Amino acid sequence: MRAASDMHSKDCVKVAVRVRPFNKRERDAGSRCIVSMVSSSITIQDPRDSQSRRSFCFDYAYWSHSGFTRDRSGLYLPEEPGGRYADQGYNATLLAYGQTGSGKSYSMVGYGPNKGLVPKLCDQLFQAIRENQDTRQCQVFFSMLEIYNEQVVDLLSRASRTPGGLRVREEQQRGFYVEGLRTVPCDSAPQVEQLMEQGTRTRTTAATHMNANSSRSHMLIILQLKQIFSKESITKQSNINLVDLAGSERQRSSGSEADRLKEGAAINLSLTTLGNVISTLADVAVGKKVVHIPYRDSVLTKLLQSALGGNSRTVMVATLSPADICYEESLSTLRYAERAKRIQNRAVVNESPTERLVKELKAENARLLQRLSRLGQEGRRANEETKELRQLLTHNELQIRAIQTLWEQHLQEALKDWEQQYANITQERRMMQMHPYILNINEDAQLSGVVKLFIQEDEWDIGLSDSSPRSISIKGLGIQERHAVFRNEQRRVTLTPFAGSKIIVNGNSVSQTTELQHLDRLILGSNCTYLFIGFPSERGGDDWSRYDYDYFQSELAAAEGIHLGESSAGSSQTDPSLLAVFYDYIKLMPMVAEANQMSQELKKGVEFKLEIKNLALSDSKGHDLEKEIVIRVTSMESKQVWMWSKAKFVNRKFLMEDVYQQHQAEQSRENRVEGLSTAALPRDKDPFWDPMEPLLLGTAHLWLQSLAFRIPLEEQLEVLGSEGTEEAILQAQLVPCTSTGLPLGEDDILIDPSELLGRRLDFQLVLEQCCGLRWIREAHNRGVQIGFRLFDCSQPLYTPAVWHNVNPLLDHRVHFASLHTSQHLLDYLQSSAVVLELWGLQEGCTDLVSCLEGVRMTTEGIFIIDEAGPTDTVPVDSAELSCSLRALQQDLEELKSMNASLKKENQSLREQLNTARNGNQHTHQGGDSMRGRSVRPSCDAEFARALKVFYHSMTSVRGQLQRLRRHRPSEESDLLGLRLFVDEQSRLLRDFSEQLEQSVSTLKQDVAAIVRRKRERSGIWS
Ligand SMILES: Nc1ncnc2c1ncn2[C@@H]1O[C@H](COP(=O)(O)OP(=O)(O)OP(=O)(O)O)[C@@H](O)[C@H]1O
Ligand SMILES: [Mg+2]
Repeated sequence: MRAASDMHSKDCVKVAVRVRPFNKRERDAGSRCIVSMVSSSITIQDPRDSQSRRSFCFDYAYWSHSGFTRDRSGLYLPEEPGGRYADQGYNATLLAYGQTGSGKSYSMVGYGPNKGLVPKLCDQLFQAIRENQDTRQCQVFFSMLEIYNEQVVDLLSRASRTPGGLRVREEQQRGFYVEGLRTVPCDSAPQVEQLMEQGTRTRTTAATHMNANSSRSHMLIILQLKQIFSKESITKQSNINLVDLAGSERQRSSGSEADRLKEGAAINLSLTTLGNVISTLADVAVGKKVVHIPYRDSVLTKLLQSALGGNSRTVMVATLSPADICYEESLSTLRYAERAKRIQNRAVVNESPTERLVKELKAENARLLQRLSRLGQEGRRANEETKELRQLLTHNELQIRAIQTLWEQHLQEALKDWEQQYANITQERRMMQMHPYILNINEDAQLSGVVKLFIQEDEWDIGLSDSSPRSISIKGLGIQERHAVFRNEQRRVTLTPFAGSKIIVNGNSVSQTTELQHLDRLILGSNCTYLFIGFPSERGGDDWSRYDYDYFQSELAAAEGIHLGESSAGSSQTDPSLLAVFYDYIKLMPMVAEANQMSQELKKGVEFKLEIKNLALSDSKGHDLEKEIVIRVTSMESKQVWMWSKAKFVNRKFLMEDVYQQHQAEQSRENRVEGLSTAALPRDKDPFWDPMEPLLLGTAHLWLQSLAFRIPLEEQLEVLGSEGTEEAILQAQLVPCTSTGLPLGEDDILIDPSELLGRRLDFQLVLEQCCGLRWIREAHNRGVQIGFRLFDCSQPLYTPAVWHNVNPLLDHRVHFASLHTSQHLLDYLQSSAVVLELWGLQEGCTDLVSCLEGVRMTTEGIFIIDEAGPTDTVPVDSAELSCSLRALQQDLEELKSMNASLKKENQSLREQLNTARNGNQHTHQGGDSMRGRSVRPSCDAEFARALKVFYHSMTSVRGQLQRLRRHRPSEESDLLGLRLFVDEQSRLLRDFSEQLEQSVSTLKQDVAAIVRRKRERSGIWS
C-alpha cells in the first residue's frame, strides 16, 4: 500500500480514498482496472469510452489494489488524523463511505491480522495516554451502536433490545445523543478490541434473528476521551466518532421508482440525508445561500451534526473497487467524496462540564469555608446557619469525590466484565480444540465466523427452544422450536431433521439422518447458513475462507440447475452479462426464500419465485440481448399473478422485514388481539400486495420481410414466455393491400424492394385467433389482449380484451400505410419483426387501451407510419415554392405525353408477344403443360412466384429451427431419457436439413426454368 499526503486545509473535511484489490467476482469476470493513482490524485476511466476520464484530488490516497503481500498488514496510515486531533481536545470523526463490498469495514474494523483504523487508532491512543500519564489523567469510554432502518441498537447492551430502538435526544450543551447508550470505560487497546468483538457478535446475532442485512446498517463507534490536567485544573474532552456507513449503491433501477410503496428512501433515509447534508454544506462552502441544513431528517445526521459543518475535525475514507464493472458506483463515490471535501468545520477545544462542575463546587466550598470562618471570627451564635453551611460543604465534597471516583469504579466494574469475557473467549478456544462445531456464514464477510455452536458428545437438539440443557438455541426465519438433532457418537456426527424442518446440506435438501463431513455446508430454515467444522483430527491446514456466503448460494443454485461454467484463471472467462445475471440470481435466491417464509408465517398466501427473463423476447430484431431477473408473485388462493422487477422486490423485501419484525414484537409481547395484528395491514400499506395489473405473458415475432416484396404472409406463431415456455399459438397475417384495403395480387409482388422507395405502401396486420392459451387454461376467470407497436408508431396498440376462452377469436385487423416509403422503413421491414405481446388480464385489473395521442391516422382509420423527417419540412419561402411548383407542372406535362407514347408502344409489344407465345406453345407443349402451368408473359411475375414459394418454405424452415433451438431434454432425464432425446434431436435435424435442401433446390430449379424460358423467348425475339 502506498500513501500520499497532504494538503493542509485546516477546517475542511479531509478525504482519503482507498482502492481495494479485485474480489472473486471481478476476477471471474476478467475485470480491467480502471482506476489509477499518482500522488494524491486519482483518475477513473469510463470503460466504454477510452477518451472519457475524470481526475480527482484528495488529501490522502491509498492504493491497496496491488503491490502488497497477503501476510503483511494491508493498511498503513502514516499518522492517524482522528487520534492526533482528539489528542488535542477536539472532537473527531472518521467516516467510511463506499459501495457494498468496497472495503469500508476492512478499512474501519479490519479482517483478522489486517487491523482496521479503529484498533490502530486505539493502539496509538493508549500509547499516547501511557506516555503522558505524568501530566494528565485520561479516561476513555467506548460505545458501539448500529442504525438500521432509523432505529438505534446498542451493540454493547446486555439487556434485551428495546422495541423501536433507543431514543435520540437533544440537549443544549451536548447536542444530539443516544439516551441510555452503554458507555464502557477502557484503559487498553485489547479491551477495545474485545468490546468490538462483542459488538460484532451482537450485530451478527441481530442480523440473523431479525433477518436484517448488515450492509444496509450503519455502525458507529463512539470513543469519549477525557484528559484531566490536575495541575492546570483543565479538562479537555473529545468525542471520536468512527462510522462504518451502509453500502452506498443507489436504488438505480426504474422498478423502485415505479413502486407504489415508496420506501426506497427509507431503506437508507440516513444515507440519503447524509448526502443532502453534505451537498448543502458544500454549497455553503462555495458561498451559496442556504436556508436549511437537513440534519434533523435522519438519526445518523443528528448524531453526526457536529462532525459535519460543526465542532469536529472530520476525515472521510472513500473506498473503491478498481474494476470496470463498478465504474458507475466508483464514479459516484468519488463525486460524493469531492463534495464532502468542501465542507468547512469549526473545531474548538472542549472543556468538560463535569470538570467545570468540580471547579464550581470547589469555588463554592472555598466561599462556604470563608463564610464559616467569618462567622467563627464574629463569634456570633449562629448555630443554625453554621450547621447548614457545614452540611452544604459535606455535600459538595461528596459530590466532588463522587465525580472523581466514578471513573475508577466504572473501570473496576468494566475490568471484571472484561475478565469474564476473556474467560469466555478462552473457554471457546478450548472447546474449538476439542469438539466439532458449526460456524455462522453471513452475507457480510465481516460477520462470518463470529458464532460458533459446539456439538459435544451425545444428542443435541437445535432449534428455537432453549428449554433443555442439551439444546443449542438458534433463531432465524423458518427455524422450528425443535428443528433437528445432532448426534455426536463414536467420532461421527449426524444430523436428523424433525418433521417439517427445512435443512439443506451441500445444496441438497435432506429429510433423513445425514452424516456430516468436515466443511459440509448447512442451511437451516430459510437461510441460516453454517459451515460444519469436524473433529480437530480431521482439520488439515485447509483454507475455509472459500466457503463464503456466495459459495453456499452458488451450490444451491447449481442444485436448481443454474450454473456458471468453471472459469478459473487462464481458462475461458464467463460472459460478464451472464455473470451479472448469475450473481443477481444467487443474491436474490436467499431473499426469495426469506420472503416466502415471511409470507407463510404472516399468512399472506403469496408465493415468490425467481425467473430469468430473456430480453430478446421483446427486441424487434430478436437479438439475444441481456437477460434479467424478475420475481413472479402468485397469490395461492386466487391465482393472481404479479411480476416484480428486482429493485421492486428488494424494496418490498425490506418492508416485509419491517412488518415481520413488528409482528414478532407483537407476538412476544403476547398482546396479540385478533384483527390488530400487523399481518392485517391495510392493503395500500401491505408490501405483499399490489393492485392487479395486466401481465406480460410472452411474445411472438412476426417477421416483416415479406412486406418489402409485397408478398402476403400467414403465420402460426408460438408465443413464448420469458423462460421459453409456449404460452399460446397466435394466427397472424400480413396482407399487402391497396389504399382502400383490397389485398394485392401476385402481379404486385416485387423482385426488388427498392422499387418501393418513395412510393406508398399499404398493408394490414391481421390477428385472427389465439389458441391453447396456457394462462386461461390455468384459471378460467382470466383474459388476454395482444399489444404491438410498429416502426415509428409512438404508442403501442392493443386488441380488445377477450375473456374466459382458451382459444379466443380475435379477428383484429389494423391497416398501416407509409405514404412515401423511406430507406429507413425498408431497412426496418427487411431486418425486423413486429413483436406481438401477449398480455394476461386478471380479475380486478383494467384492460389495456391503445392511446392514440401523437399517433397519425387518416380519416379512414389508417395508421400512418414512416412520416417525413424534419428535413423534409424545412420552411421554404413562397416565391421559391411557386417557382418549383411551375417546374413540377411542366415535368408533369412532359411525363404525361411520354406515358401516352409508352402506352402505345406497350400495346404493340403485347400484340407481338401474343403471336410469339402462340408459336412457342406449339414447340414446348410437353414441358409446361406437364407442370400444369401456363407460361406467363412476364419473367418478373415468374420470379415473383418462385420467390413466394421459396419464402413460404423458408418460413416453415425457420419455424423448425426455432423448435430445434428450444428442444431440450427434460430435467429429470436419466441416461435412457437422454439417449431418446438425442435420437429425437437427430431426427429433427435430419428433417430440418432435408427441408432446407429441398427449398433451395426448388428455388434453383424454378430460377433455372425461368432463365431457360427467357433465353428461348429472347431467341424468338431476335
Ligand atoms: N484494502 C483491501 N485489501 C484487501 N482486501 C480488501 C480490502 N478492502 C476490502 N477487502 C476485501 O473485500 C471484501 C469486502 O470488504 P468489506 O467487508 O470491508 O466491504 P464493505 O464496504 O464493508 O461492504 P458492506 O457495505 O457490505 O459492509 C472483504 O472480503 C475484504 O477482505
Ligand atoms: Mg461492511
